[in-house]
Amino acid sequence: MILVTGATGGLGHQTIDFLLTTTPAAKIAALVRDVNKATDLVKQGVDVRQADYIDYSALVKAFQGVEKVLLVSAVAFTDRVRQHRNVIDAAVQAGVKHLFYTSIQRSTDFVMPEVTESDLATEAYLKASGLVYTILKNGYYFEGLGYLIGSEVPDSEIRFPAGEGKIAFVKRTELAATTASLLTSEGHENQEYILSGSAAYSFHDIAREFSALAGRPIAYKSIDEAHYIAQKVAAGFPEVVANFLAQWGAAAKEGMLAGTSDTVERLLGRQPTSLREYLQTTYFSGR
Ligand SMILES: NC(=O)c1ccc[n+]([C@@H]2O[C@H](COP(=O)([O-])OP(=O)(O)OC[C@H]3O[C@@H](n4cnc5c(N)ncnc54)[C@H](OP(=O)(O)O)[C@@H]3O)[C@@H](O)[C@H]2O)c1
Repeated sequence: MILVTGATGGLGHQTIDFLLTTTPAAKIAALVRDVNKATDLVKQGVDVRQADYIDYSALVKAFQGVEKVLLVSAVAFTDRVRQHRNVIDAAVQAGVKHLFYTSIQRSTDFVMPEVTESDLATEAYLKASGLVYTILKNGYYFEGLGYLIGSEVPDSEIRFPAGEGKIAFVKRTELAATTASLLTSEGHENQEYILSGSAAYSFHDIAREFSALAGRPIAYKSIDEAHYIAQKVAAGFPEVVANFLAQWGAAAKEGMLAGTSDTVERLLGRQPTSLREYLQTTYFSGR
């Protein structure tokens, strides 16, 4: 039995969708906080189990009879380490053999507060737990680009604090397909994989692609973090969110998200979505 946590969220649900294409529903379990959000999974025959990452005894119960767990990391700005430790401890107690954890890619030593700090603590805890582990160092989602630079085609300029830094963006559905493939194949014991796109793009590259698609010049200007935060706050974002978005700029600038690996491409059996394809579909379809 494979259990996927975060099954009512994007990555968890999409991973189950891919698992269902190769694995009988009776061998798939979904961990959810709210069963009312998982009626579609119940209808498909997936074994839906309820527990919050903070509810240790519910987790132990939910993990009964499970061989592999995909722990979809908890959201930022919560006590991620406490939640992840609970899940790991409960997995040990319930007799789970192998736990996969969704970390964020870190191609340099840059430590991003709220994200990398808790990933590092979780990975260390998992490695010391006695469970067989697989660490998935997920690239930055293409779907997150809009949060950084806006969801409309820029008029003439992208203003973001990433300097010359690059990001090896990856579509979340392609991460889910890759994750499902890793969960259902052998040879991933105590391994770590970077699950990134096959190419990394700077914000100059993004501006160039926007220019080609829009048929007008669009430039990239690297601005300092304080200006970016002020710009986002003026656009209505809470300051804490604006700060968080600026941190992704700093992470990109420091190369944290720039490394590429062919694991996603290899397991998909095709090139992952390119920047041009993503921008075309997301910003220009229907225009
Ligand atoms: N690589 C990237 O670019 C990127 C971007 C964003 C996030 N992430 C990280 O990757 C994870 C998965 O991404 P996603 O897009 O699938 O996020 P998402 O759509 O927000 O899904 C998060 C899932 O985790 C569940 N969850 C959160 N806290 C929980 C708790 N205390 N107990 C049980 N379940 C809990 C949520 O349950 P509910 O449905 O009940 O809320 C939801 O199902 C995120 O949680 C975050 O750590 C990565």
